Amino acid sequence: MRSSLVLGVDSSTQSVKVELRRAEDGAIVATGRSPHPAATPPRSEQSPADWWRALVAACAQLGEARSKVGAVAVAAQQHGLVLLDDAGVALRPAPLWNDTTAAPAAATLVASLGARAWAQGCGSVPVASFTIAKLAQLHRSEPELLSRTTRVMLPHDYLTWRLCGAHVTDPGDASGTGWFDPARGRYRTDLLAAAVDDPDAWVARLPQVLASSAQAGRLTGEAAGELGMPPGVAVAAGTGDNMAAALGLGVAPGQVVISLGTSGTAYGVAEHPTADETGAVAGFASASRGFLPLVCTLNATRVTDTVAGWMGLHVDAFARLALDADPAPVEAVLVPYFDGERTPNRPDAAGLLSGLRTGTGRAELARVAHDGVLCGLLDGVDALRLAGLRVSGPPVLVGGGARSAAYRQRAADLWGTGIVVPEDDEVVATGAAVLAACALEGVSTRAVGDRWGLGGGAMVEPRPGAHPEEVRARYRAARDRPGASKLTALGAPGAGDLT
Ligand code: XUL
Repeated sequence: MRSSLVLGVDSSTQSVKVELRRAEDGAIVATGRSPHPAATPPRSEQSPADWWRALVAACAQLGEARSKVGAVAVAAQQHGLVLLDDAGVALRPAPLWNDTTAAPAAATLVASLGARAWAQGCGSVPVASFTIAKLAQLHRSEPELLSRTTRVMLPHDYLTWRLCGAHVTDPGDASGTGWFDPARGRYRTDLLAAAVDDPDAWVARLPQVLASSAQAGRLTGEAAGELGMPPGVAVAAGTGDNMAAALGLGVAPGQVVISLGTSGTAYGVAEHPTADETGAVAGFASASRGFLPLVCTLNATRVTDTVAGWMGLHVDAFARLALDADPAPVEAVLVPYFDGERTPNRPDAAGLLSGLRTGTGRAELARVAHDGVLCGLLDGVDALRLAGLRVSGPPVLVGGGARSAAYRQRAADLWGTGIVVPEDDEVVATGAAVLAACALEGVSTRAVGDRWGLGGGAMVEPRPGAHPEEVRARYRAARDRPGASKLTALGAPGAGDLT
C-alpha cells in the first residue's frame, strides 16, 4: 500500500496540471500539463469535453509511472455550470466562475429573498460567479435546453464522473453553488426555487455529496484505457481548487492565504461557518470538514500580464521595472477592474488609471499595476476579519503571481511585515494528491499533510519607506470614485483618468 503512487489533478481555467506523487512521503514522481481553450469575460465558457481531452493529454506526459497509480483525485475551478443530457453529453459549454453575464440574474435572486436569507441559507450572497445565478439565467434564456438536463455538475464533478461514472460532489465545491448549505450539509430546495420553477426536479439532478476525501468509485475500463492507468484505481470525491490549495499548503488556523492566479483569492480555515450579509465573503466549506471563508476578485495576474503587454515587456521584465520604482507612495493608482469585478460586486466596471502627471514614469506605472491587484485582496483580508476570521502570523502568498519578484515584494511592503512564499507552486494539484492518498488509505487529510511535511516556505520582508496605509488609502479613494464603477465615456471622470 505505502509504495503506491497518487495522482492529483488541478483543472484550472487556463490549463490542467497533473502531479504523480509517492503516497508514502509526497515526493513528486512525474508531472504533466495541457492548456484549456482561452475563456475571456464577460462571456466566459468552456466545453467540458475539452477539460477531459486536456486531462488525457497531460496524463500522457506522465510516462510509465502511470501504470503504478493507486488513486486519483480532481480539484478544479469552482462554480462552473455543467449540464448533461441522458446520454452524458454536455448540453452546452459551461459558463465559468468569471463569466459576468449572469449579474442581472444574481441581482434578481438577491432581491427576491434578501441578502440575509442567502447568507444564512448557503453562507454566501450570490453574485454572477455563483452557479445558481447561471442556472437562473439559463432557465429564462434557454428553457428548452434545460428541460433536457438529467445531471447537473460542477467542473470537478464532471471529471470525477468521467473517471469513475459516479455522480458525486463534495461540500467544498457544493458550497459555491448557492443551493447547498455548508453549515448543515444539505441541499436547499427553497433557494433553488428562487432560480427555477421546478426545484424538486432540480434537486433530483444534483450529485450526491460525499466527504472530499471519500472514495467516490473506481476508474472505469474506458477511462483507464484513455489515461494509460490501471482500471479499478480508487477515485476520491475531490473538491474545488481553493479548497485543495488550502490542503496542499497545510494551512493552519489563523493563517491567511493570498492567491494570485487568473482569480485573486484571500481565505483562511475556520471551525465555524460564516454568513456575511455584505456579500464580500463567500462562506465556503473546506475539504477537511471545516470551513473556508474566502474573498475572490476577478482581476489578478491577467491585469499585470495585460499592462506588461501594453509596454511591450515580458512579465519578468515588467516585475523588475516595478521594483526599480522607489517604494514610497505615488499619486498614480490603478483600479484593476479590467474584467468587471466580483468583490466589490461591480460586474460592469472597467479598469481605471488615475493620478497621472507628466512626471509619472514607466516604473511607477508597473508598480501601481501590481499594487492595484494587491490592494483589492488586502481589502478582502479586512472583510475576512470583519466576518469573524481570526488572522494571525504572516500571510502565505501562492498562485502564479507568487513567482513574480514584484508581487512578492509588494505584498510584503503593503502587508507591512513579513510574508511567506512556499516552495511548492502547484498547491492545488498537491491538495488533490492529498485527497487521493486519503481515499487510498482511508486516513485523514491531516495525517497525510503531516506525513508529507506540508507548509512552510521562505520569508519576504517589507522594505522601509513603503507606507502601506497611505498606498491603500489612495487606492480606496480611487476605487470609490464614480469613474471606477462603470465603463466611462470620454471625459466623464476627472482629468488625467484613462478608462
Ligand atoms: C472562487 C472562484 C475562483 C475559481 C478559480 O470562488 O471563483 O477562485 O475557483 O478557478
